[in-house]
Amino acid sequence: MFDKKTIRDIDVANKNVLVRVDYNVPIENGKVTDDLRIKESLATIRYLLERGARKIFLISHLGRPDGKTVPELSLAPVADKLRELLELPVSFAETKGEEKVVLLENLRFSPQEEENDAEFAKKLVELTKAELFVQDGFGVVHRAHASTVAITQFLPSVAGFLLEKEVENIKKAVENPARPLLFILGGAKVDDKVPLLNRFQTLADTIAIGGKIANTYQKTSDKEVLPVDFVYGEDGKAYDIGEKSTEKIIELINVAQTIIWNGTLGMTEDPRFAKASERVATAIGQSKAFSIIGGGDTAGFVLEYQKSHPELRYSLISTGGGASLELMSGEELPGVKALLTFMA
Ligand code: 3PG
Repeated sequence: MFDKKTIRDIDVANKNVLVRVDYNVPIENGKVTDDLRIKESLATIRYLLERGARKIFLISHLGRPDGKTVPELSLAPVADKLRELLELPVSFAETKGEEKVVLLENLRFSPQEEENDAEFAKKLVELTKAELFVQDGFGVVHRAHASTVAITQFLPSVAGFLLEKEVENIKKAVENPARPLLFILGGAKVDDKVPLLNRFQTLADTIAIGGKIANTYQKTSDKEVLPVDFVYGEDGKAYDIGEKSTEKIIELINVAQTIIWNGTLGMTEDPRFAKASERVATAIGQSKAFSIIGGGDTAGFVLEYQKSHPELRYSLISTGGGASLELMSGEELPGVKALLTFMA
């Protein structure tokens, strides 16, 4: 199902390897507050080390500095987190040191990154003396940037384990799903989700809608299940779906064979409005269905909830925001397209 070459298909011994990761993670007071994307990159890094790669240069962006050096968007706090998780020395923004693992500074401090500039990509290759490019930044492969597309002109380019896992699982759920397929859509940003909703009108057997979207959404098909009750704040506005609506979604979860959940059902930052999402997270985590949790807010919420409910299991908690949405919407991802493919 995944037709791109991966690090398993190529000899990495004694090579300098350039690895694109997506370390665009939340940072508060100089500390990483959500390390899912960093943790999920470790399998590829460890594999490359075990297989004798000479040096691993990790490249990433952080935030949107718009081509300028913005000190608050330095990847230095990510390097600290990576040292802690990898339990190895990691040098930061320094290519000449002895360390086997090096994290370079935020690529988007240079405007050429987002311009998909070939000269910039070439400079990265020269700077690192890389002989191989590994794409493992699933969260950013929907962008055609120097570190996702232009770079592949200069080096043999293969996928890392995270990219492979994300693409395989998401494609499995949308291309050949076990049925019934239940799509649960929540969240606040309605516009972002229109293509996704359109695609699932054809793909899904049932679409359950919650979150802020549900406040204004007009039913367009018989597949859609809209909330019938809400939980209100002091200002009279709805901030979560109510018990009856949650029960209905749980009934659908209990008969589904594939479940895709994108977007929390209430304003989960406030525990008073997190009940529906917690109950849905529990029902999905207990279900035997193939389940995908996607979208930054939903993944973060479920991971946090899972800390106090470690028995809950999901097939995939996606590290991709826009990338998962685009892949589920059926769009081709330029950073995946650019990788080496097996010949038919
Ligand atoms: C993300 O967090 O969705 C990715 O890192 C992409 O970031 P971007 O939307 O700023 O390109």
